[in-house]
Amino acid sequence: MKVRKAVIPAAGLGTRVLPATKSIPKEMLPIVDRPAIHYIVEEAVRSGITDILIITSRGKSSLEDYFDRAPELEARLLASGKDALYRDVLAPTELANIQYIRQKETKGLGHAVLCAREFVGNEPFAVLYGDDVIISPPDSPATGELVRAYEKYGKAVVGIKEVTPQQILRYSSLAVSPLEERVFSVTDMVEKPAPHEVLSLYSILGRCVLPPEIFDILSQTPPGAGGEIQLTDAMYILARTTGMTGVDYLGKRYDMGNKLGIMEASVEVALRHPEIGGEFREYLKKLAQTL
Ligand code: UTP
Repeated sequence: MKVRKAVIPAAGLGTRVLPATKSIPKEMLPIVDRPAIHYIVEEAVRSGITDILIITSRGKSSLEDYFDRAPELEARLLASGKDALYRDVLAPTELANIQYIRQKETKGLGHAVLCAREFVGNEPFAVLYGDDVIISPPDSPATGELVRAYEKYGKAVVGIKEVTPQQILRYSSLAVSPLEERVFSVTDMVEKPAPHEVLSLYSILGRCVLPPEIFDILSQTPPGAGGEIQLTDAMYILARTTGMTGVDYLGKRYDMGNKLGIMEASVEVALRHPEIGGEFREYLKKLAQTL
């Protein structure tokens, strides 16, 4: 079955980027001149997704404004002949059919996904974590790679990356066996493993494609770590029963939920930016000599 729908959970509190996230959703933090959520929606669209549900919460209405028309601003830009800027302002409004729902309490990523049950219905769907920006080669958007694996193997697909031995202790560790280049069968997982429990350095990062059966599992999943309903607890059940497919996607992931990730994304995107890339490179080279 084709994957047409995507869910972007963006209702978290973003405590790792306080105080900025007190009034700016982390999903709206800019990477040069576009907010993180723009890159994520664009990736979904390039992956063949047509319908998107963004899970928001109190204080996140700027997310909705970004994908909405701005008639006064548009008129002003047109009247002053700033056609290129006008097109930039219009672009986010034309990307996809985007809907919103509010998660009324911050009860975890699993609970946020459960809020999408009616929107999704009885189809497989992609989940793009709202604070994980993945910059990929133009013809290989990360979600598109996962969608292809779903259509081929018919099981839930998780985006995976190898992390360091230190990081794996804070993430989920997967039991993987290779199926084809960068594609694995996932048969078990341990969340936040003790050193002797580590199954591999592969962890789930940023993206997944799930079958609708996940909703029944999530609705029976008791609150886990931090009193929140954890999506990884439901994935654990999938891994142990039907099994899952893991795709080590080509793109590079930037964690916009932490300060270092935000800086890495800004620097690397700025270096490739058509308007400021050249000047920024020169600036960075000079700065590096002083470090
Ligand atoms: P995180 O755990 O990284 O987000 O969730 P957080 O809770 O905002 O992070 P910190 O620890 O407080 O800094 C991954 C994604 O799931 C969303 C977040 O917005 C983020 O995009 N999320 C998380 C929800 O939508 N609802 C939740 O209840 C929790």
